Amino acid sequence: MADYTPPASASAAKARALVGSHRHLMPNRVETFEQLGLSLVIGRREGYRLWDVDGRELLDFHLNGGTFNLGHRNPDLIATLVGALDHYDIGNHHFPSAPRAELAADLARVSPGGLLDRVVLTPSASEAIDVAIKSARRATGRRRIVAFDCAYHGRSGLSGAAGNPRDAAAFLSDLPDEFVTVPYGDLDAADAALARDDIAAFLVEVIPATAGFALPPAGYYPELRRLCDEHGTLLIADEVQTGLGRTGDVWAIEGFGVVPDALVTGKGLSGGLYPVAAALLGARAGAWLDTDGWGYVSTFGGSELGSVVARRALELSTTPAALANARHMGTYFRTGLEAVAERHPGLVEVRERGLVMGLRFADPRGALRMAPALFEQGVWAMFAGFDPSVIQWKPGLLVDEAYADDAIARVERALVALESGSGATARPRGSR
Ligand SMILES: Cc1ncc(COP(=O)(O)O)c(C=O)c1O
Repeated sequence: MADYTPPASASAAKARALVGSHRHLMPNRVETFEQLGLSLVIGRREGYRLWDVDGRELLDFHLNGGTFNLGHRNPDLIATLVGALDHYDIGNHHFPSAPRAELAADLARVSPGGLLDRVVLTPSASEAIDVAIKSARRATGRRRIVAFDCAYHGRSGLSGAAGNPRDAAAFLSDLPDEFVTVPYGDLDAADAALARDDIAAFLVEVIPATAGFALPPAGYYPELRRLCDEHGTLLIADEVQTGLGRTGDVWAIEGFGVVPDALVTGKGLSGGLYPVAAALLGARAGAWLDTDGWGYVSTFGGSELGSVVARRALELSTTPAALANARHMGTYFRTGLEAVAERHPGLVEVRERGLVMGLRFADPRGALRMAPALFEQGVWAMFAGFDPSVIQWKPGLLVDEAYADDAIARVERALVALESGSGATARPRGSR
């Protein structure tokens, strides 16, 4: 029988994780992070802190894109999951279920305008993007999808083909006849793409994460909404990183004054404990659910255990206090980081929409140097994969000023170390 006991020492645990991951799971990723000086095997994790198995503490400003919005191992969510285990398991997707129905009702209630009241629950956000795309195709009878050239929507078939097609192309899974890209924020390009009158959906990553969270030009989304309506195209909002309160609104697109036809959420909906994602569909996009009970089927989509956790995660993420904290702490971080930028001109821009933040450097590859420098100072934050001049700065929803002060001081120490030439250097390509 295999030995399931944890390794006796931290170094043995680290070696076992690294060797096994390199051998069987992700050789290139292990090597890339080693080269970057970002060697981490996560041990203890609580709140917005992680510890390497060897005991080194890190403030977590990556949060897996918001998966840990409510903190690692949030005690309330753990209690919810443990309580659910007394009653539920995965459940059977064929039949009505109270946990799934209650989660769906709550998602519908907080959806933009309360109008996206058909819900498809999936195990991953990539799959929920697939569902949203297929729903738009079915509603319009059109095949083509437009997305931003700097967007990331996932790695499944359709989500992988949408947005930046680099990685789909490597697997010969890009679909250039069906998926069109336009530059983010460019209304003329959007207009030209939509003018073909054959576009099923305009899929937007509302503030593109992998491009470093650049904010859209003023008035962009209302005008895009108008153009979509004019051309009979559905608007799908990917809120996987920007939703669930991170911008200070429940959904970023609402904050820009727009109700989409469909919206995808994931990551934080899981509470970091049990995978759940969802496609929220409006009347037109969701009409197929009335006539086709098996148009989407997933054994694990909307598992009952996950639904119970997700319902509580949704509730905790959307309280007025959590939303107010996101707004307040976004401003607090921006103010503090802009003061740091004044003393360190290499940091040229602090992007902020609540807790959706990016730190842009003058050096086009500056974030590749800053990520390991931050790591040295006990901060885990990732560079933007499609724009290595930007560090993605993703504080948790419930952070407070003391935590922010500590983090901002560490940013300044990392900049000082880089300026003195003692900071780590890094080269390779990124991820999200
Ligand atoms: C904006 C965005 N959309 C979709 C996805 C895909 O989510 P998942 O990894 O759960 O399939 C991600 C994941 O990083 C994402 O950041």
